[in-house]
Amino acid sequence: MKVLVFGGSFDPVHKGHLAMLRKALQIIKPDVTHIVPAYHSPFKAKSPTPFKLRMQMARAAFASLGRRFVFDDYELKRGGKTYSYQLVQYLRQHYGKPEIYLLVGTDCLNDLHTWKNAPYIFQHATVVAGRRKGFAEHQADFRHIFLPGEFPKMSSTRVRAHILASGTVPKDKVPEAVSKIIVKNDLYGLQVHRWLKAHLKPNRYLHSVKVAELCAILSDIYEVPVGKAVQAGILHDAGKGFSGEELAAFCKEHKIKIPYFEDICRFEPSLLHSYVSAWLARHEFGVKDKDVLNAISEHTLGSLKMSTLSKILFVADISSKDRKYKDAFVIRTLAVQDLEKALLYAANRKLWFTIDSQKWLCPLGIELWNHLVKCAA
Ligand SMILES: [Fe+2]
Ligand SMILES: [Fe+2]
Repeated sequence: MKVLVFGGSFDPVHKGHLAMLRKALQIIKPDVTHIVPAYHSPFKAKSPTPFKLRMQMARAAFASLGRRFVFDDYELKRGGKTYSYQLVQYLRQHYGKPEIYLLVGTDCLNDLHTWKNAPYIFQHATVVAGRRKGFAEHQADFRHIFLPGEFPKMSSTRVRAHILASGTVPKDKVPEAVSKIIVKNDLYGLQVHRWLKAHLKPNRYLHSVKVAELCAILSDIYEVPVGKAVQAGILHDAGKGFSGEELAAFCKEHKIKIPYFEDICRFEPSLLHSYVSAWLARHEFGVKDKDVLNAISEHTLGSLKMSTLSKILFVADISSKDRKYKDAFVIRTLAVQDLEKALLYAANRKLWFTIDSQKWLCPLGIELWNHLVKCAA
């Protein structure tokens, strides 16, 4: 009795999963295949996508691959954290003494020995690994099989970030049946895009998408979680649809604390949009991450305590691909080489632009400039 087991968050299922499972079925020729969505992976924060939908996506993607599939809600029934050795134990109890094949990606293979009760897994199961492009060959000292060929370097995290940044499901990465479920259930930020399209002018919406895309690129370089970077990018101008008067009234109504509030209201109320956007991110879209909220608040004037994410958003906002002025290209080029230099240049351009326009300079912008010059000295 051969039992193939494929577990994962499946949040969402992507074509990398599909390719690996298809190949494993050809090579192992199992009698039965258990697809086991994680209830709560021991290595990740609890998935915000309901188990039922992740199971639905797994079923839609995998069911047509062969006979005798069990879409197994074992982890949901157990509740809490489930480790792979417990899954192996359960299958041994269920089938007597089956040959168990545990399908994993090569990236998992490298730290499999650190998994809880790993010797039990190695004793009772054969690990089946798919090589992903870019991962070094691993010499494992336990029973394992490498599937022939290489598999696409894809991750569910990347797919979610793509959807949140662009408002579209990437066809080259997500099976069509899964894509339909994502769209039908408004997953991964699609509702954010609908809201932004309804509340912002088309060019402002496009700008938000371009900023989110640049934030994603910079997050890779400066090692910030891509999900956070994209969230900050897509929501940073959510409050931009309000007039100056409306922004001021909004801030008063919701008691948002803003330095130099009276002066800003009098001379440049549009600056309030960053604080309103952060408020909307928190209260309209449920963003709780302080780093994301601070980055949104600080994206126009900066602060003396900017995190890497804050700096990324500040720079991305002024240099996103929809910006047509010459400096945007210069800052964008600088940003991928040296974030601090790009920030200094961006702050400089913002100040000069304000002075050239004969507008009021907010003291926060001047404080940022002096701070950056001191840091660079
Ligand atoms: Fe803005
Ligand atoms: Fe912006």
